[in-house]
Amino acid sequence: MSGGGKFQAPRGTLDQLPGEAAARARIYMAMADLAARRGYELIATPAFEDTELFSRGVGGSTDIVQKEMFTFSDQGGRSLTLRPEGTAPVVRAYIEHGMHKLPQPVKLWYWGPFFRHERPQAGRYRQFHQAGAELIGSDSPLVDAEAIIYLDQLLRGLGLGSEGKGLRLRLGSLGSPASRASYRGLLVEYLNTHRAGLSPEVVARIDTNPLRAFDSDDPGTREVMAGAPVMLDHLDDADAAHFAEVRALLDAADVEYELDAALVRGLDYYTRTVFEFTCDSLGAQSGVAGGGRYDGLVELLGGPPTPAIGWAAGIERILLALGTEPEESSVDVFVVAADERRAEAFAIVEKIRAAGNSADLDLAGRGFKGQMKQSGRSGAKLAVILAEDGTARIRDIAGGGDDESADGSVGDIAAAVSARL
Ligand code: HAM
Repeated sequence: MSGGGKFQAPRGTLDQLPGEAAARARIYMAMADLAARRGYELIATPAFEDTELFSRGVGGSTDIVQKEMFTFSDQGGRSLTLRPEGTAPVVRAYIEHGMHKLPQPVKLWYWGPFFRHERPQAGRYRQFHQAGAELIGSDSPLVDAEAIIYLDQLLRGLGLGSEGKGLRLRLGSLGSPASRASYRGLLVEYLNTHRAGLSPEVVARIDTNPLRAFDSDDPGTREVMAGAPVMLDHLDDADAAHFAEVRALLDAADVEYELDAALVRGLDYYTRTVFEFTCDSLGAQSGVAGGGRYDGLVELLGGPPTPAIGWAAGIERILLALGTEPEESSVDVFVVAADERRAEAFAIVEKIRAAGNSADLDLAGRGFKGQMKQSGRSGAKLAVILAEDGTARIRDIAGGGDDESADGSVGDIAAAVSARL
């Protein structure tokens, strides 16, 4: 509560106001439409889960688990956490509902709020929304390409690919756990020999999460990292062949990408292919969407060994990148009535709605003149005017021209209006 006793939305959260609703709905529809064409089914998991699901699934050395989770105890003393991401919950559901017995891969999509206790700034919120997709149960490079093409089509279809937005796809491979372990040894050795040039935060994580050094903003660290060994040069033969196939499939589908040898994602579960879409026009928080393979996660969370891949896109970041202006809603018909004809106006509006068109009328007791103004502001194509002298007219607000006389019963007037829409 602020000093004046008025409440405000909690820090880092935002109200989804009506002016933005249509733009959000378009993103949802685009996501749902592509999902249906590609054979993905919708899944929704709870907004909170056992804390352990994330500390194990996302990884104890990540920023998310170390400092960004909204964690609380319920009345039974269980530790619960508002979900900071959607992959671990979807994998939990996959295991819990025995989805490994279904034909593989299982293709799922989701939409909803996620929660991270980050420092708020433009494009970074404590409650934000993601649209995501997960393909669980195949290690084929076809699946990697399918996931990336889906996301590429979503973002481009919404208009993010247009000139000036600076949409870019970065692609990398982290290798399988075995090749990553030997690469990790090389990296730790390199970091240890260059300790003096690294930021204290990076030094503190040399043993727990050396890869995060590539993510650092610290100038000294960046200089050191420019010469560091990169995973892409140390993939084993199977990982390199897998990555080459993914790239060939993307090339064949005309998906443009940049190879990023040091692409690091902020979650520990990734293996092999990783990718991120950024939008230069967004500034500091430029990550619009990201994802990758997580071939070890199902097993880590108690299921059978099962390869998988997925991604999530940030809805608020998409809206920011599109620069969506607030939109006002409009109706097809606005009915204006003299005082004694309000009940008749009300009945006509309901009949027009029942016929499948949209209609509205004054509900605040405005006078005739005020209603005429309101009909202009409503964005309606047609106005129906029920005058004091008992006449009824239909006016083409958008097109102009003479009013059409439409005297008759409520049903007659509604039918005359519907015929003109
Ligand atoms: P992520 O990269 O952490 O991945 O988040 C995906 C997207 O969510 C980001 O690219 C960004 O657009 C949006 N986002 C993240 N944090 C915030 C925030 N604080 N405010 C606004 N938007 C935000 C994941 O969450 C993985 N679960 C993706 C995935 C699915 N990987 C495999 N499957």
